Amino acid sequence: MKKGVYLIGGLLFALSVHAQTGTGKTKVAALLKQMTLDEKVGQMTQVTLGVVSTPEDGVLNPAALTKAVQEYKVGSILNATDHALSVDQWQKVQTLIQDEAARTRLKIPVIYGLDGIHGQTYTLDATLFPQNIAMAASRNPELAAIAAKVTARELRASGVRWNFAPVLDCGRQPLWSRFPETYGEDVYIGKTMGTAAIRAYEEDGLKNTTAVASCMKHYLAYSASRTGKDRTPIYLPEIELREYYLPQFRAAVKAGASTLMVNSSEINGEPVHASKYLLTDVLRKELGFEGVIVTDWEDIIRLHTRHNVAPTPRAAVAMAVNAGIDMSMVPMDFSFFVLLKEAVQKGEVPMSRIDDAVGRILLLKEKLGLFDNPYPEKAAAANFGRPEYQQQALQAAHEAMTLLKNEQDILPLRSNAKILVAGPAARSISALNGCWSYTWQGKDERWYPSGSKTIVDALTDRLGAANVRTTAVKGFDSPANYDSIALKAAAADVDAIVLCLGENAYAESPGNTMDLALPEEQQALARAAAGTGKPVILVLTEGRPRLITGIAPLMKGILLAYWSGRKTAEAVSDVLMGDYNPDGRLPYSYPRSMGEMVLYDRKPSEEIREIFNSDMTMNGYYPLYPFGWGLSYTRWTYGDLQLGSGKLTGNGKLTVSITVTNSGDRDGKHTVELFTRQHYASITPSMRRLRAFKKIFLKAGQSETVSFTLDRSDLAFVNAKLKTVTEPGEFDVLIGDKKAVFSYAAMP
Ligand code: BGC
Repeated sequence: MKKGVYLIGGLLFALSVHAQTGTGKTKVAALLKQMTLDEKVGQMTQVTLGVVSTPEDGVLNPAALTKAVQEYKVGSILNATDHALSVDQWQKVQTLIQDEAARTRLKIPVIYGLDGIHGQTYTLDATLFPQNIAMAASRNPELAAIAAKVTARELRASGVRWNFAPVLDCGRQPLWSRFPETYGEDVYIGKTMGTAAIRAYEEDGLKNTTAVASCMKHYLAYSASRTGKDRTPIYLPEIELREYYLPQFRAAVKAGASTLMVNSSEINGEPVHASKYLLTDVLRKELGFEGVIVTDWEDIIRLHTRHNVAPTPRAAVAMAVNAGIDMSMVPMDFSFFVLLKEAVQKGEVPMSRIDDAVGRILLLKEKLGLFDNPYPEKAAAANFGRPEYQQQALQAAHEAMTLLKNEQDILPLRSNAKILVAGPAARSISALNGCWSYTWQGKDERWYPSGSKTIVDALTDRLGAANVRTTAVKGFDSPANYDSIALKAAAADVDAIVLCLGENAYAESPGNTMDLALPEEQQALARAAAGTGKPVILVLTEGRPRLITGIAPLMKGILLAYWSGRKTAEAVSDVLMGDYNPDGRLPYSYPRSMGEMVLYDRKPSEEIREIFNSDMTMNGYYPLYPFGWGLSYTRWTYGDLQLGSGKLTGNGKLTVSITVTNSGDRDGKHTVELFTRQHYASITPSMRRLRAFKKIFLKAGQSETVSFTLDRSDLAFVNAKLKTVTEPGEFDVLIGDKKAVFSYAAMP
């Protein structure tokens, strides 16, 4: 009976959503008919806040605002000028902008976009969560959803309804300065976490005062730059593009992402902003994306000034818009408006393309409720800074913590241990949060909330000031943080050294690096710490895996904390002291050296290392720590794998079960990961591919049977004809150290 009620309810809801979209489309079509070319081109123009504000942060320049909105009719504004603003400041900014829009002929509201990457970056006191790379370590999509929901609420409370997130770029190049924004090297994790975030951003429809439009980015393969430097060329065969970089976007389109941002770079010599193939043929036609396509920063003019594929600025505009761009993040001037108008008048861009783009932008505004009320909403404001967000940020940071090494169970530390906390990250807040934290670069600690803790603070809270000594000072780069003589002296009467190394915050190109190795001065500090003879626990706060191969053997314990947001320090302390049993798992293969960049889903010929002709070893995959690595304070044991059948056929399903036991003496969470491997296929099969995971909680001594259901789509790959296929044959299914074999046949 109940089910029937739900079904009818669901049907009515679906019909009403459909009807609303229908009405929205009708409204948009009617509006479009009334619009002049200027008004249309203006809608496609997005400028940065700096264009309409005074040098003082958060203060609009009325004349500049009038010029942008009345004269150039801009449809969208983005960004902060320098640093985060208060909720009140944002609300004032939004109100003045919408007041100005209300004075235009058609009163079309402006859509404002911000980068709420791991929490609402640009609002003071917003709750920051772990970066995507750390979220991926948690293997908990519910946490990705919670973080996205809080971000949406805090954005909307600030009067902003468009978030430039999530990043769906696959992190297969650890040198890349935006690696921390990715969900790591695996496609399935990227799809799962990314779609969880998108659903949460847009939950219950965009009119809802707790929702924002999401923006999947940066389409496509931005992360695969050959040099690892930001915005440098990508050379990628299409088979690889489709296997590792496109599926996340395909899944995100299905999950209902409203907008998409384009990769600033070039693939095989073609800038993506000029690629009709990728933007129209693949994205629109094949993936069925109907939302708004926005450029990244200044990327249209760069077709002329940087990529040299457009001989003039106007040719650049025509090229991008004809390829499929709907909105240009110009963002420093109105050149796009002027040039696009000219291009249309000269017949270089058809009016149908303009109407198509503007229609999509207006429909987005309509779906977001901007036509009903473009102003900051009272109901939304109440959702800023709710107390439970802090607890949620702590849970996310806890679940991200990845324990890489724990020799002789050095961890957890005794509750009366006397420790020395040292290293450049020990008294840093920015090195715990990373990019997009109250400023773009995240480095300026003046803007962090007053209650933000450093690792020294959190450990002092737990152990008492008498038991915590530190040689660290504020300022990641302060020479005192690298003083190994002071460190040795301070270590004289402590039981252990907690050495906090890694990376200070950076974002985009300023994070480019020539070398993945942890800087030598930090390694020297680690050697000095080990030289004291005291056990050293290395805490790494870093956005990407900096090489630690030389110092790792000297460390008794290694905790990878990533950049885990507002509660990183508390989570580090909780794990070190045993108040939280760590359960994070590496979302990437931690490389051993620059010459060892093999990823977990390696091919058979990467699995082997040829010594001489047919003489070879099987250690081709030889990272310092493998993908999925992560220790616990309890012991997890697996029973044998149980398959529902030895055969999977056609559209059938195969159940895979395993009994997991917490056979240690502490309660804890644990992620069960299921991999498959095809024995033979038309394209060299990967040694393993992650197909599913589940995170469970078990009390000490408890067991649980975890089941997965596979179908043929879980075994699919991109073949030489660029088609996603599942080929018949034998497969291994692998969980932990257990393995079973089954076969797949297309027909019974
Ligand atoms: C970044 C984007 C970001 C945009 C707006 C660009 O530099 O690549 O990820 O959304 O700026 O801030």
